[in-house]
Amino acid sequence: MSILRARILGTGSALPEKSVANAELASRVDTSDEWITQRTGIRSRHIAGEGESTAGLALAAATQALKESGIGAAQVDAVIAATTTPDEIFPSVATRIQAGLGMTRGFAFDVQAVCSGFLYALTVADQFIRNGTARTVLVTGAETLSRIVDWTDRSTCILFGDGAGAVVLRAFEDEGSSSDRGILGSRLYSDGRMHDLLYAAGGPGSAGPKGAIKMQGREVFRHAVDEMAKVVDEVLTAGGFSRADLDWLVPHQANRRIIEATAQKLGLSMDKVVLTVDHHGNTSAASIPLALHEARARFRPGDLMVLEALGGGFTWGGVALRW
Ligand code: ACO
Repeated sequence: MSILRARILGTGSALPEKSVANAELASRVDTSDEWITQRTGIRSRHIAGEGESTAGLALAAATQALKESGIGAAQVDAVIAATTTPDEIFPSVATRIQAGLGMTRGFAFDVQAVCSGFLYALTVADQFIRNGTARTVLVTGAETLSRIVDWTDRSTCILFGDGAGAVVLRAFEDEGSSSDRGILGSRLYSDGRMHDLLYAAGGPGSAGPKGAIKMQGREVFRHAVDEMAKVVDEVLTAGGFSRADLDWLVPHQANRRIIEATAQKLGLSMDKVVLTVDHHGNTSAASIPLALHEARARFRPGDLMVLEALGGGFTWGGVALRW
């Protein structure tokens, strides 16, 4: 049976100019490079300056992804932007990307699922491709989390960073077998009862548009490790694969310890795990596409990988794909 598969044609990324090392944070709050490195694996993160924006970073990443794909904006049918830190309440970041690329057709919208946002957006794009609504979809993950961080709260301000990543997905007619290249399957979950463990209050419908991130770190850590290992197994099993078939794990880059504990639960060696958290920090929806772009030279066509993430909500999920 032939089916339409969403294959990644190219990737792109963009980071703010300024990289902030742990030592600089230690001059602002009561922390140290040693504490941050040991507990999180983060050494530096990029922080947006004046004139840098979520839409601007997303547009730069999208432009590079199109270039690497060898296609023009006129061939894009849809833009889906994952973000929790849009520059404006409306319109969407995706329509800003659309305008920035000079697109005069297609449709564009945002997806908000915090750190799982890119996986949600990728899964929505995959549905459009599978059912024939769109042939080419641009998916971005972009954040300026530094703007909703409480810079006096040492338990959260050390974790987050800004940036953007993008992928171009194109429909390919394939056999519908597990050896097809492209997105093979995904699982998405959310549980709104976990609100209080990780949230940023504020918003146009309540206290005003601006809030700051609040987090119960230990609880988030525990849930992340449990759910990540489970969802990786689920997407593998659904595709008829086992853990041993996996060439790469591309996790949301929240904390090196979460990633190592997840890999350990899965019995996966760390050289199969893409790690960028040391120099990106947690960039929420941007972290997975940033990691894909950075590691792309290490991937070979046909490599089996699972992307996984957990974030505020909670939302979480996994996507299995062949590169
Ligand atoms: N510098 C120095 N000390 C600190 C800092 C800091 N930046 N932050 C907290 N501490 C102190 C605490 O006050 C506490 O002190 P006490 O023992 O005197 O009370 C001590 O360090 C231990 O605090 P814990 O919160 O128990 O430390 P933990 O080992 O759990 O590490 C961390 C904290 C890094 C936040 C961890 O819980 C974590 O990474 N959780 C996951 C959170 C996360 O990644 N969230 C991102 C969004 S969700 C996601 O993307 C998966």
